[in-house]
Amino acid sequence: MSRDCRVKLITHHHPRYHHRTTHRVDIVTGASRGIGRGVALHLASLGAKLVINYTSPSSKTHADQLVSQINSLPISSITTLRAVAIQADVSDETRVKALFNTAEQTFNTQPHIVITSAGIFDSKYSSIFDIEASHFDRIFGINTRGTFLCIKEAANRVKRGGGGRIVTVSSSVAGSLKEKYGAYAASKAAVEAMTTILAKELKGSGITVNAVAPGPVATEMFFEGKSEEMVKKVIDSCPLKRLGKVEDVASLVGFLAIYVKAYQLNYMAMAL
Ligand SMILES: NC(=O)c1ccc[n+]([C@@H]2O[C@H](COP(=O)([O-])OP(=O)(O)OC[C@H]3O[C@@H](n4cnc5c(N)ncnc54)[C@H](OP(=O)(O)O)[C@@H]3O)[C@@H](O)[C@H]2O)c1
Repeated sequence: MSRDCRVKLITHHHPRYHHRTTHRVDIVTGASRGIGRGVALHLASLGAKLVINYTSPSSKTHADQLVSQINSLPISSITTLRAVAIQADVSDETRVKALFNTAEQTFNTQPHIVITSAGIFDSKYSSIFDIEASHFDRIFGINTRGTFLCIKEAANRVKRGGGGRIVTVSSSVAGSLKEKYGAYAASKAAVEAMTTILAKELKGSGITVNAVAPGPVATEMFFEGKSEEMVKKVIDSCPLKRLGKVEDVASLVGFLAIYVKAYQLNYMAMAL
């Protein structure tokens, strides 16, 4: 799949897909805000049960509101609990194990789908020659180590032969290698490498492992530290002359998590 291919997806809210997702438990990391939140809502609208992960105490309210929204979705075939919020810093191994343990205990089943959207960005736009080593470590700690810990746990817990899905979130800058995105792009390039290798290592398990690599998407992360002029410049450079929407990425993740049956794409890039 080419790095700069553009993918337009039309998802179908068809009962057939509800049947495929209704008893499934999906864990979405970084789901209190932005892309993760959109992905969680999309998967819930397709009938899945959701574990909403977040880390900041200030995001508890957002996560709880999302849980209430999902629990009140009108899906008649599910009368039990549909969603829970679980606080866990994805860079902390003990907390990641606890996240998966709590998810399994809550829904009394192994997870079926794991989406790793938790991530941070370098809003100071540092060059490699002036980024603080501690800041570099933090970006790698959450984006790379956090993804590693979650996909390791997912690979050990998602049921073999049960149509399990793992989707990681990279970024188009891992391919475009823009100046001032050094630590972030490198952290995401490592995510892509791990995604492809894990996909090969899980050969025969029926679990697919894919990454999505969005272009700029209108979330808090995107606007952080950018002047109006910088935002305009990014929009001008987008093929569609607009920022991506959370829903664009959610559809793509939904496609990989629900509609793609056994075909292994390795990764898909989305450039808007
Ligand atoms: N927006 C873009 O333009 C863009 C483009 C390409 C790729 N991406 C990638 O897409 C993913 C989501 O980005 P976004 O734009 O949705 O960002 P966002 O709006 O800033 O949301 C980030 C999410 O990650 C969570 N998070 C951060 N650190 C965490 C940690 N240590 N443990 C658990 N959760 C943590 C946050 O939780 P709290 O609310 O608790 O802090 C929040 O839910 C990231 O991996 C990002 O790199 C974004």
